[in-house]
Amino acid sequence: MAHSSRLQGKVALVTGIGNGIGQCCALMFARQGARVLGCDLNTLAAQHTVEQALAEGLCIDSLHPCDLTDPHDAQRLVQWAVDLHEGFDILVNAAAFAAFAWIEEMDYHQHWRKTLAGELDLVFLLCKAAWPVLKARGGGSIINFASANAWMSLKGSPALAHCAGKGGVLAMTRQLAMEGGPRGIRANSISPGLIETAATRAHLATDPHFHKTALDHQLLPQRIGQPEDIAWAAIYLGSDESSWVTGTDLRVDAGATAC
Ligand SMILES: NC(=O)c1ccc[n+]([C@@H]2O[C@H](COP(=O)([O-])OP(=O)(O)OC[C@H]3O[C@@H](n4cnc5c(N)ncnc54)[C@H](O)[C@@H]3O)[C@@H](O)[C@H]2O)c1
Repeated sequence: MAHSSRLQGKVALVTGIGNGIGQCCALMFARQGARVLGCDLNTLAAQHTVEQALAEGLCIDSLHPCDLTDPHDAQRLVQWAVDLHEGFDILVNAAAFAAFAWIEEMDYHQHWRKTLAGELDLVFLLCKAAWPVLKARGGGSIINFASANAWMSLKGSPALAHCAGKGGVLAMTRQLAMEGGPRGIRANSISPGLIETAATRAHLATDPHFHKTALDHQLLPQRIGQPEDIAWAAIYLGSDESSWVTGTDLRVDAGATAC
């Protein structure tokens, strides 16, 4: 539980704080001195994270429930952050939902559209709502989550819509970096490999073949990734240590996309 001050003086808006990578980013950003504002669709999960922070003597404010696929909720979240702290310097777009199915079973509405709304639309909607705030502050850092699946397909994973959604996030983030550069707005993505979170835990536990395939793909085959592996990368991209870094994608995947 390393406490330091790499994000001292920064306000960070983190989405999806109820679970996994968003939760870990919220807690680790707070440990690094950031004022953290969060949100989640899942009220109980978000409240649990707020209480976890309190138990450590940290403070995370959270707006929940908040459905980021709804443009009104994205706008409401930004206005809430402006009312509380006059905005934010870092936006971490960790919230996401994906449905997995092979192409022959993939339903257009239940799988494809839901995944593109839950992975791509919600990132666009919050970036758009946040843009005027970041502009008014003279810049900031947007951190989006693409995926190793934006770069490769993993045998045994029915990830068609997820690959499309994350490929979209990857390309959109480059464009955001171009549009934001003159305003001091940096935009980068992180492409995690397979990380053990609520989204993957059941599949990893019940399908030993999937677990083994994932490890076999990694150049570091000793273990599956943990949310902390990703949050350290987000701390770097949120801090001034990365002030000359924009439009990049940081692959944090034990080398899975390098082979
Ligand atoms: N876990 C992995 O292996 C992995 C790999 C590559 C990329 N990623 C990406 O990293 C990010 C975090 O993934 P994770 O595994 O921690 O996910 P997770 O499912 O564990 O947590 C996501 C959180 O987002 C919330 N959420 C979902 N839809 C929402 C909405 N419409 N509005 C508000 N909140 C919503 C959920 O309630 C949940 O608390 C996602 O963008 C994911 O696609 C994860």
